[in-house]
Formats: sequence, structure tokens, C-alpha cells
Amino acid sequence: MECFLEIKELCKSFVSNGRYITVLDKISFNLHENDFLCVLGPSGCGKSTLLRCIAGYEKINSGKIILEGNELTKPGTDRMMVFQDFNQLFPWLTVEKNIDYPLKINYPKLSKIQRKELTSYYLELVNLDNFKDFYPHQLSGGMKQRVVIVRALSLHPKLLLMDEPFGSLDALTRYKLQKELLKIYEHTGVTIIFVTHNIDEAIILSSKIVVLSQHPAKIIDIITNDIEQPRLPGTPQYGELWNRLNLLMGLDKSIEESAALTREEVI
Ligand SMILES: Nc1ncnc2c1ncn2[C@@H]1O[C@H](COP(=O)(O)OP(=O)(O)O)[C@@H](O)[C@H]1O
Ligand SMILES: [Mg+2]
Repeated sequence: MECFLEIKELCKSFVSNGRYITVLDKISFNLHENDFLCVLGPSGCGKSTLLRCIAGYEKINSGKIILEGNELTKPGTDRMMVFQDFNQLFPWLTVEKNIDYPLKINYPKLSKIQRKELTSYYLELVNLDNFKDFYPHQLSGGMKQRVVIVRALSLHPKLLLMDEPFGSLDALTRYKLQKELLKIYEHTGVTIIFVTHNIDEAIILSSKIVVLSQHPAKIIDIITNDIEQPRLPGTPQYGELWNRLNLLMGLDKSIEESAALTREEVI
């Protein structure tokens, strides 16, 4: 059976001070439609670079990225990216217009009423219908990220690419947004690649986890995560996966030693 997304022996180097620095070294993995992949690895290992290659923002040195049988070489609205920073919305447009504008550009055949219906649907999905007339500066960081996520989804991408989107949020807001993202994922069936360096985030969200090593990034493991939702840190399956990922990431704390840290990160 043909895979939805195939990454084949992807290599990416940058030239730095006149030398080639290999960042991604023969990265290969496959995704099925509706997978929720978390790419987990230490800071600086090449997670954003991998996502940028899949988005088509970076030219790869060798290898192939194949989406539904077609090799990807440039950006397209079939892949929408959500970044960590809170300034991805057009500051001069209201929340509603922020979603409407890309729809108008990309789907010129949609009527104004159809666009309004779509915008309402997506704003209701993230409980922001009451904020449609607000401007971005009137929203919290978490609210902005929710608008960015549904704006991306309104264009019906085949892949939603997320680069540590909740990394700058406080622990409580991050936890709420993780829950909200799972709801969105369930409702829309979109295939997601979500980059994080946070083990708990990867366990809570993913259906599959790719673990990357440092300098240059190679795949150290590909793990299927079928723990039943809601995934709670106190359960044996959670602890087992946490310890396995912790070991793979080269962190040496046991789950007991890190209990306080885990609680702080998950609450
Ligand atoms: N445009 C670039 N030019 C040179 N080096 C880069 C460039 N982009 C990223 N790098 C290097 O690639 C490595 C991986 O970066 P990045 O993908 O941002 O890591 P991560 O997202 O895992 O923190 C880093 O060493 C970074 O300095
Ligand atoms: Mg990064």
C-alpha cells in the first residue's frame, strides 16, 4: 500500500564558516493519513530544519519527500506551518478577517457567505466565536495560537506542521491547548507533524514518535504510541514510555526522580 508521506534518506547540510555542517543524516520514516507524529529531540538537533524541509522552505541535499505519491520540492498550501511565536496573525485584521483573508485568496470561488460559514465553524471549534471582532493584540498568546491553528486548517492542508507551537506558553495554558489540539485532530482527521523537545508533550499528543539524536540528527527510534486517551502521568503505560524516551534522549533521571518536574510540565 502506498504511504501517505514518505521521507527517504533525507540529508540536509548548511554551509557555516566555509564548512559543510550536516544537520540531518539519512532521515527516513513513513506516515499514514491521520497519523499524529511527534518529532522529539534535544534543542538544536535539527527538528525545525526537518519541518522546514517538509514544508519546502529548505532545499534538501539528497533524499526524497513524497506526499501522496508526489515528490515535494517547494512550499504549497497542502502543508501549513504553525510556529512558536505569537505574531503569526495579521495585526491589522480582526480574528474573523484573519481566517477569511487566506480563504478568499486561495479559494476565490467560495462566496462571502460560504467563507463566513467556514470561519464560524472553525472559530466555534476552538471556542473563539465570541472573539471574532477582536484584533490580535487583544488576545492572549494561547488564543492567538488557536486562531493560527484553525486558520491553517481552514485551507484544508494535507499536513499540519507544528514547530513547538506551545513552547512559549505557561504550563497550564499549554496543557489546555494540548487538549484542544487533540479535539481538533479528532474532528478534522488532519495528519499532523508536531515538533517538541518535551517528552510529556510527545506522550500526550502523538500516535507515533520519531526520536532524533544530536549532531547530526539521525533517527534513534520510531515508536507507536497507542496509550488510551486521556494519557495520565500516573499510569504504568505512561511511566514506561516516559522512561523509554528519557533513556533514548540520554537523560538519566528515573521517573520517580523527575516526578516533580513532570508534574510541573503537565499541570
Ligand atoms: N540557515 C541555517 N544556516 C546554518 N545553520 C543552520 C541554519 N538553520 C539551522 N542551522 C543549524 O542547524 C542545527 C539545527 O537547528 P534547528 O533545526 O533549529 O534545531 P532544533 O529545532 O532541533 O532546535 C543548529 O546547529 C543550527 O545552528
Ligand atoms: Mg526548533
